[in-house]
Amino acid sequence: MKPTPVRELKVSGVGRLTLEKVEEVVKYVEDLALFNPEELAERAGIELDKAASIVRAARRFVRSSVGGRVYRGSEYAHILEARETLTTGVKAIDELLGGGLKVWDVYEFAGEFGSGKTQLCHQVSVTVQLPPEKGGLAGKAVYIDTEGTFSPSRIKMVGERFNVEDPLDNLYVVRPLNVDELEEVVVEELPKLLREGIRLILVDSVIALYRAEFKGREMLAMRQQRINYLLDWLKRYARRYRSVVVITNQVLSQPVPWGIALKIPAGGNIIAHASTHRFFMRRAGEALLLECFDSPTIARGASAKFQITDRGLEDV
Ligand SMILES: Nc1ncnc2c1ncn2[C@@H]1O[C@H](COP(=O)(O)OP(=O)(O)OP(=O)(O)O)[C@@H](O)[C@H]1O
Ligand SMILES: [Mg+2]
Repeated sequence: MKPTPVRELKVSGVGRLTLEKVEEVVKYVEDLALFNPEELAERAGIELDKAASIVRAARRFVRSSVGGRVYRGSEYAHILEARETLTTGVKAIDELLGGGLKVWDVYEFAGEFGSGKTQLCHQVSVTVQLPPEKGGLAGKAVYIDTEGTFSPSRIKMVGERFNVEDPLDNLYVVRPLNVDELEEVVVEELPKLLREGIRLILVDSVIALYRAEFKGREMLAMRQQRINYLLDWLKRYARRYRSVVVITNQVLSQPVPWGIALKIPAGGNIIAHASTHRFFMRRAGEALLLECFDSPTIARGASAKFQITDRGLEDV
């Protein structure tokens, strides 16, 4: 479906000049519908009441072209059931996930260094390019690399294994230097890429830039608010563009009075609520382990073993 340019939107009380300002931030009505009035007012430099009218008009426009927003329970269950899944390329992990990674959902993988988070991101950046009959989404991926660990040579190795030709051609890499740049890319540039067929959004890791930039207790509330802002956008995109969202997270040691420190994912409640499914990754002898930490559909503590080889993540 061809997107509709913002200037074609009819909003009473809003003139062409205002819509042109809006169009500098967001080009199409379909993406405009994802904005909150406050965000739009701030980014486009327009008055809040006008922004509110514009966003409302955009939503009305989108609804009229894609149908309602209230579903009967049975109908909704069917929609959820019919969602496409993305294979991780590891049978044990796919089984644990109930078939693979599901579009619309946010998957969080937390673990210490060397637990395979980045390797997993590389692998699904390739499997998403596979056709559906091979477990892919025949789509592209955008890899938001906040730690500078994206590796083209690893992508090529995994590509060979899955017989994906030129896997780097269907992959966009973003290397933001700070939170402001990250937000700008996500809000203003991702829609364009999503329309080109991105079905997987990866953020490796979601916490690094925020931890570096918002230091100390007095910055904590601000940090959490900004992480929330980012994740909220990713969730909107996941819904609108039928994409999978994968985020990686660092772990913190929480000291407990009786001795052994407890390992918990960083980022507190904000990341906990934003993630649909949360997993821990860790070393388990020779192999690695992926363990469910919190999910509406997978039992807590359920786990899958895997190993990392030249070919990427594999079953043991
Ligand atoms: N070509 C390869 N063959 C075998 N193992 C590899 C290969 N490349 C990477 N690895 C393994 O992958 C591990 C690194 O995993 P990865 O980079 O995904 O960790 P991570 O969880 O992202 O860590 P960090 O928190 O530091 O980002 C290494 O410990 C290494 O053992
Ligand atoms: Mg990593």
